[in-house]
Parts: sequence; C-alpha cells; structure tokens
Amino acid sequence: MSLLLGRTSFGNPANKGKVLSRQDAELLLNQWVLNERLKLHMKQVARLMHDWAEEKEQLGEHDQWRWEMAGLLHDADWDQWPDQHCKKIIEELETRNVDPEILRAIASHGPLHFGVEPETKMDKMLFAFDELSGLIHAYSLMRPNAYDGMDVKGVKKRLKDKAFAANVSRDDINDAITRADLTIDELIQFIIARQAVVTI
Ligand SMILES: [Fe+2]
Ligand SMILES: [Fe+2]
Repeated sequence: MSLLLGRTSFGNPANKGKVLSRQDAELLLNQWVLNERLKLHMKQVARLMHDWAEEKEQLGEHDQWRWEMAGLLHDADWDQWPDQHCKKIIEELETRNVDPEILRAIASHGPLHFGVEPETKMDKMLFAFDELSGLIHAYSLMRPNAYDGMDVKGVKKRLKDKAFAANVSRDDINDAITRADLTIDELIQFIIARQAVVTI
C-alpha cells in the first residue's frame, strides 16, 4: 500500500490565510475520528503547534490558529480511511478553500510516506512534534504520576529503548529534529510542559 501523494502543490494560492472556524474544524474532527486515543493525539499536536507559534515564532492569533488547525486535522482521515491517509483530508480541505500552507504542512508530516518534503517552519514543526508527542504520551501512560515529574532524561531513555512504543519511528524523530534545527532536549522539554494539560 502506497500513501505517496504524487504531487507537491496543494490548494489554491488565492486561499492564502483562509481557515476553518474552530467550530467547523472540531466538527470535522469529531465526525471523521471516532477513536478517542487518536483524537487526543491530534489535540495534543494541535496544542503544541499553537504554543510554538505563539511562544517561539511570536505570531499573532490568526497565525496561531493556522498552526493549531494543521495539528488538529493532520490525521483526520487515519481512523476511517488509513489507505487514503493524508490524501482524503487534503482533498476535503481543498474543497473548503483552506490556506495552501496548512494543506502543505499536513501533506508533509511524513516525508517518507507521502513523498512531500517539509519546507516551511509550520511543516517542519508538525513533522517534529508528531512522533515525539506520541512517544511521550505513551511514556506518561506507564508512569504512576503520568506527566508529573517527567524529565528529559527519562524520555531519552525510552527513545533509546527500541522495544518501547516500537511503532514510533526513531528515524523520523531524528530526521525531523535535524530539519527543524532543534535539539532533542529542547523539543522534549517543550512537549512535556504543554502536553500534560491536554484532554479530549
Ligand atoms: Fe499521520
Ligand atoms: Fe499524527
């Protein structure tokens, strides 16, 4: 099964800056994603994208929502249409005239799978948060106090243990960190501090 998208251009440039309302985005999420665990993952990544846009990129509210929206919907088709992952949500958002930058970020969240290279900062951060966020959440589930007292060292130990959350691609994580020009410590610290408060 190939998920390669076979294209590198998404959306219509005339739709630059156009977003869904939060209500419409959440409605789409709730209609398409029935799996609560996946829904939580998407909300976690959305939160990380929002906070990164606000704190690190110092973007205004509209741009914060653009980043958040990319995170919130990046896996929207994974639950019901895994063989059309990425393709289906991109086509849906294209018909709704969504900002091409948001579409591109979603299309490049797995370069090896979809064949689209992360280029913008939004692309790179979505790719960087995706897998690492999942591993950190898996770690929280096995700790008696979940996120309380979790530190970078503990997460790095789990990263090295290939048997832990074995479906999380360490290669993707390393690749993403290099592309985003970040240190693993910085990224882990950022995720732990913000992800803890996200609930479905
Ligand atoms: Fe995905
Ligand atoms: Fe994801």
